[in-house]
Amino acid sequence: MRFGVLTGGGDCPGLNAVIRAVVRKGIDRYGHEIIGFRDGWRGPLEGDGEELSIDSTRGILPRGGTILGTSRTNPFARDDGPDTIASVLAELSLDGLIAIGGEDTLGAANRLHAEHGLNVLGVPKTIDNDIGATDVTFGFDTALQVASEAIDRLHTTAESHHRVMVVEVMGRHAGWIALYSGVAGGADVILIPEQPFDIDEVCSLIRRRHSRGRNFSIVVAAEGALPIEGTIVVAAGETDEFGHARLGGIGHLLERETEERTGFETRAVVLGHVQRGGTPTAYDRVLATRFGVAAIDAAHESRWGMMPALRGTRIELVELVEAVKKLRTVTPEEFEFAKPFLG
Ligand code: F6P
Repeated sequence: MRFGVLTGGGDCPGLNAVIRAVVRKGIDRYGHEIIGFRDGWRGPLEGDGEELSIDSTRGILPRGGTILGTSRTNPFARDDGPDTIASVLAELSLDGLIAIGGEDTLGAANRLHAEHGLNVLGVPKTIDNDIGATDVTFGFDTALQVASEAIDRLHTTAESHHRVMVVEVMGRHAGWIALYSGVAGGADVILIPEQPFDIDEVCSLIRRRHSRGRNFSIVVAAEGALPIEGTIVVAAGETDEFGHARLGGIGHLLERETEERTGFETRAVVLGHVQRGGTPTAYDRVLATRFGVAAIDAAHESRWGMMPALRGTRIELVELVEAVKKLRTVTPEEFEFAKPFLG
């Protein structure tokens, strides 16, 4: 059989491990042929792909990014998108397509399968860790390590200068990176998109800490964190093909507001794409490899419209439609354990 594979949306450490696993098991064990499409959905829309081999995917396991390239191309942003993909798959005699991506890529994969009958299955990825139906996505562990290490480093300079350091981490809709890196790094304030923040409360937490003799503080804010409506104005960024605004800015806003209101010198650091780059942790390499193996097994068995997911410690196949229904965000109960350490 012949299968296509693509990586879409923001890149993420571990993508290459999935590609390698699909190719290795697909060719070695099943004798299939694998075509790698370039730059997410742009590849199958424009017929841009090449055959992958065990040789061409050697040595990529520890490499960050994706050897296939990626883009935020939305096949549903053009009327003929689904039909074009269907004809490209037919022209290349492909029996199906494995789409590795986050909420947008998987959402498109689900619609191509459910509404257009295409043989597509998904593999979940995102450093944000917010895909429904799977307990964890690969990339998250790596991003968490990077963010936690950055917070450790900022601690020492914050302490020396008696400053408040605001660390802006990624997390558009879900605050997993902020919550976990904040707890791991001993942050005094953690702000997540799920819970709009009150700037007065943020400042009182910092003041309380300073009144107890600590003369520096660390604030960790997810890029998607927002003030309670009507309290502070946040500028909206331009949007991509999936309608998502470009984020990044909450850190500097907090820097200004905190310094003005508390009088404590404050600096903001935006970690940004540093969290997405570089070599995946061992945990992410293993999870990505398990997903890749499960994906090629599922393609071999024509389990279209499905997605491998981590449930507890087991990899299970779940329906794509279930996975894209709702993002896995931080609930108030899941945030609770961090509270004793704030302020
Ligand atoms: O979805 C993963 C993510 O890293 C988000 O946290 C962030 O908002 C977005 O991607 C950034 O995307 P881009 O690479 O297009 O700036």
